[in-house]
Amino acid sequence: MAKRDGARLTDEQIDWVVAAYTRGDVADEQMAALAMAILLNGMDTGEIARWTQAMIDSGEVLVFGDIGRPLVDKHSTGGVGDKITLPLAPLVAACGAAVPQLSGRGLGHTGGTLDKLEAIPGWRAALSLEEIAAQLADVGAVICATTPTLAPADRKLYALRDVTGTVESIPLIASSIMSKKIAEGADGLVLDVKVGSGAFMKTPESARELATTMVELGRAHGLATTALLTDMSVPLGRAVGNALEVAESVEVLRGGGPADVVELTVALAREMLALARIDADPAAVLAKGEAYAVWERMIAAQGGDPDAPLPVAAHVEEVVADRSGYASFDALAIGTAAWRLGAGRARKEDAVQAGAGVRLLVDHGAAVAAGEPLLQLHTDTPDAVAGARELLGGIVADAPPGPRRLVLDTLR
Ligand code: URA
Repeated sequence: MAKRDGARLTDEQIDWVVAAYTRGDVADEQMAALAMAILLNGMDTGEIARWTQAMIDSGEVLVFGDIGRPLVDKHSTGGVGDKITLPLAPLVAACGAAVPQLSGRGLGHTGGTLDKLEAIPGWRAALSLEEIAAQLADVGAVICATTPTLAPADRKLYALRDVTGTVESIPLIASSIMSKKIAEGADGLVLDVKVGSGAFMKTPESARELATTMVELGRAHGLATTALLTDMSVPLGRAVGNALEVAESVEVLRGGGPADVVELTVALAREMLALARIDADPAAVLAKGEAYAVWERMIAAQGGDPDAPLPVAAHVEEVVADRSGYASFDALAIGTAAWRLGAGRARKEDAVQAGAGVRLLVDHGAAVAAGEPLLQLHTDTPDAVAGARELLGGIVADAPPGPRRLVLDTLR
């Protein structure tokens, strides 16, 4: 009620409500009302810091012990074709750091890192804390499911926000992300805060506010944090969908792949290595294939076969340009189409299709002729194609787009 009426929550109120909700003593309806009041009335810096601490205190902080390398972590606020974690974790490990990537599954139009890796035959997402620590010391990189003991208040609250229209609150997003990241116990964190149609934050102003809030939260908790604001108005790379994105990540790890995926991977790696105080050139390490060697070991350590053929969709259809002009690929439209084709899920319990998604056949902004194939739609459920085509809307523009700046700003 205090928050509904515009008042500040006291430290005691925050500690109590987060702990009681986690225990089940505060009902979902009550917490949903509070989340809505926070969405509408906001929280000040002190409230956000206390809320974040209460979420951390709802579980345990991971302690990996001495693994002989600096621990550095990365988080992306989510985007379309955002497979960057896949090449980035082995790259930063190949440069000498340890990278624990405790990740989630996708919901809605943005894909989840675990869904992508589960396209690899045999690969296992669930690891114990001991397995994570051993793999960090041995291979240097782990991408796995988040452990149930990490900020359990957030797990419950995020699921509730998802169904009550209360996700889009900067204090709630910042505390949700940072409570999990701080509880992971890394020495440094690089945030990739996405801006544009395919991102949570549609405008540079709101993305900057979220990034600043998270950098300050990190600092207040002794976690060195840097944030990059990066463009998400266009999909990253040419592949959107689980197995399609794994294949593209492998191209990058082998020294090829789309220029934007390489650029962002290297830019994030540089920031992570700076926080880890490691003097290495990630672009050179990537080009030499050293990150690919770590990838193979990382996948094999979790039961996956890095050489196995990836699943392919049963049905592939092309979308051609309906007129001459310039290819125009909107991140939200493509992400939603890939989701509809089976690459994503609408509810937590849904399964995803490993082979489904959208492949871009030309670059955004390329000059195209009428009838030229621009996209491939991949799915096991051909009935979904008509809906996906509708969601795509116009993919040819009359004028070329302005130049794309991928990294818009860096906040330290
Ligand atoms: N990702 C999270 O982990 N939490 C949010 O609130 C939004 C995105």
